[in-house]
Amino acid sequence: MSTPVPSSHDADQGWRPGSWRERPTAQQPDWPDLDALEAECKVLSGLPPLVFAGEARLLTGALARAAAGKAFLLQAGDCAESFAEFSADAIRDKLRVILQMAVVLTYGAGVPVVKLGRIAGQFAKPRSAPTERVGNLELPAFRGHIVHDDAPTLEARRPDPARLVAAYHQAASTLNLLRAFTKGGFADLSQVHNWNREFVAASPEGRRYEAIASEIDRALAFMTACGIDLEREAGLHQVDFWTSHEALLLPWEEALTRRDSLTGDYYDCSAHLVWLGERTRALDGGHVEFLSGVHNPLAVKLGPSATPAEALALAKRLNPRRIPGRLTFVTRMGAESISSRLPPLLRAVREAGEPVLWVCDPMHGNTFTAPDGRKTRSFEAVMAEIAGFFAAHRAVGTWPGGVHVELTGDDVTECLGGGADIGEDQLALRYTTTCDPRLNASQSLDLAFRVAELLRAGD
Ligand code: PEP
Ligand code: CO
Repeated sequence: MSTPVPSSHDADQGWRPGSWRERPTAQQPDWPDLDALEAECKVLSGLPPLVFAGEARLLTGALARAAAGKAFLLQAGDCAESFAEFSADAIRDKLRVILQMAVVLTYGAGVPVVKLGRIAGQFAKPRSAPTERVGNLELPAFRGHIVHDDAPTLEARRPDPARLVAAYHQAASTLNLLRAFTKGGFADLSQVHNWNREFVAASPEGRRYEAIASEIDRALAFMTACGIDLEREAGLHQVDFWTSHEALLLPWEEALTRRDSLTGDYYDCSAHLVWLGERTRALDGGHVEFLSGVHNPLAVKLGPSATPAEALALAKRLNPRRIPGRLTFVTRMGAESISSRLPPLLRAVREAGEPVLWVCDPMHGNTFTAPDGRKTRSFEAVMAEIAGFFAAHRAVGTWPGGVHVELTGDDVTECLGGGADIGEDQLALRYTTTCDPRLNASQSLDLAFRVAELLRAGD
């Protein structure tokens, strides 16, 4: 081990990986045994980091290009990763639909796409109420498998700190497989046809995708015929795929925070990017304190109540040196509110000269409960929020820098509408999410085609 050099940044004075503990910290589970929690965190702090600080710096660079209007961010994955549905097939299928979306966006709009998964650590959930009613039982609300099981019993909902270490191991093997797939041939552009699964190939979106895949094949054949040695072009055979999750459960994030021996700076080595949710972005709270001192690229969700003053204060606190790529704002206003709520934020941030990347989460402001009690979202509302996001940026003159979506590679029936026009009476057919409703593979592809059109419309 080399001796760490002192941190280069004055802003770090007074900050420690555990300084968040001196602040009010929202959305933490009611741990029944704090000694047991600390014992598990001690185990975690001795385990290898999941990501390397140098990778986080590369992602900051990629996000800086997106903030400058030269790339587009696609951030996507589960609402909550499940301990129960953890398999190689599920990881491959999720990666595959994200790669397909990226191809549609890159080919359709001609912009480089930064691919960032909500994966390999997206285990903890904030809740709007601390308890929920199931039948006659009043239970602690489900906070993700990193905390407890989702079964509707008091016993299952008891927070179990051993799950923190289990989550680490699941994140490590998920990341290992993602690295293998993205660097080992699966993500090779010659595979564009193979990514189109049968049920997707049979849908209108799948057929549209096939047409793009054939054009890419022809373009590659053309370049080969011109004498270009495609074997040597690494960008055609591998992709950079980054990981992210909400930094909600701070004992876990703290235990995985390490000092980088090259720079002396602290990084949260649980993921390349970590974000704060709408419920944990209080300026004087523990979450903002924690994120202010780690050098990863960061994101913060902004809902319809966010004011320009709050956005500016967050930018000042989390990115005082105005490093491009350091800070992303993910807006989730709801289709109804976006045209009134977003432009004032865009103007204020631009006028202050903050180098923020703006991304649209069209999911979390458009959730409602269907008559059968299931949470759902309509594909048309999701698309309406994205269209409103592009319109607001075009009006203000800022760059609509990306989308943040909840999806799965499986053929689920959790969101309404889309190509197969899923109706409320079909939700029960394949509704498997442990938290929020996700787009299925063909809805995700449809979304990518429509976003590519919106990007092209701005040329
Ligand atoms: C989420 O991303 O799953 C989430 C809870 O989002 P938000 O904080 O925007 O509500
Ligand atoms: Co969600």
